Amino acid sequence: MRIVLLGAPGAGKGTQCKRIAAKYGLMHLSSGDILRQERAAGSNLGKKAQSYMDAGELVPDKIIVEMMAGAIKKAADNGFVLDGFPRTVNQAVELDKALTLAGQKINAVLNLEVNDQLIVRRMAGRRSCPKCGAVYHLENLKPKVEGICDNDGDKLVQRPDDNAKVVANRLKTYHQQTEPVVAYYKNNNTVYDINANRTADEVTAAIFENLDAMVSV
Ligand code: AP5
Repeated sequence: MRIVLLGAPGAGKGTQCKRIAAKYGLMHLSSGDILRQERAAGSNLGKKAQSYMDAGELVPDKIIVEMMAGAIKKAADNGFVLDGFPRTVNQAVELDKALTLAGQKINAVLNLEVNDQLIVRRMAGRRSCPKCGAVYHLENLKPKVEGICDNDGDKLVQRPDDNAKVVANRLKTYHQQTEPVVAYYKNNNTVYDINANRTADEVTAAIFENLDAMVSV
C-alpha cells in the first residue's frame, strides 16, 4: 500500500503516520525527519536545507525530489506512507512520474483538515525526542514523566522552527504552495478528507476506518 498524508504544519501528520505505518506494516517516510537527520549529520544536503527550514520556507523542489526518490527506492515492497512530501504540485507530478516508471501508484491520499488557531496551539506545545523522533504535546499527548521520552529516557526538546514567527510563515507557505496539491490529487486519486480538529485517537480511528474499507475491497 502506498499512501500520501497531506495536512498543514502541526496537523498531526507525523503522529498519524507512525500509527498507520505500525498497523499496516508500511515504511514511514517523513521529508522533514530526513532533512533534520541530514542537518544533524552535517551533510551537504542538510547545509543546503538549513536556511529554508529555519525561515519556514520550502526547500527547493530539485533537492527534495531527489532525496525522496532515494528514500522511496529503499522502501520495502509492502509500501510506504509519505509524510510532508509532496508539498508542491511539481513535487506531486515528479512523484507520479517516478512511480509510473516503477510500475507503481499512490493507492490513497489522506488529507488532514485542521483550523489554523488549533495548529498554532499544537505547535507551541509540541515536544519531541531527538533520539527516536517520538512526538508529544505538553497538554494533549503527555509523556509518562514530564520532559522525558517514554521510549528511551532522552530529554525532550522543542523544534527550533516551532517559534511563533516561523510557524506563521510555515502556515502561509502551506496555504500558498501545498493546498493546491490537495486539488491535484482530487483530480487524479482517491482523497479521504479527515476532520483532524479532534483528539489524536479519534483521528486515527477515522483514518483506519477508511483504509480498512479500502484494503477489504
Ligand atoms: P516538516 O517536518 O514536514 O514539518 P511540517 O509539515 O511543518 O509538519 P510538522 O512536523 O510540524 O507537523 P505534523 O503535521 O507532523 O504534526 P505532529 O504530528 O508533529 O517540515 C519542516 C520543514 O522542512 C519545512 O518547513 C520545510 O522547510 C522543509 N520541508 C519538509 N518537507 C519538504 C518538502 N516536501 N518540500 C520542501 N521543503 C520541505 O503534531 C503536532 C503537535 O500536535 C504534536 O505535539 C502532537 O503531539 C500534537 N497533536 C497531533 N495530533 C493531535 C490531535 N489530534 N489533537 C491534539 N494534539 C495533537
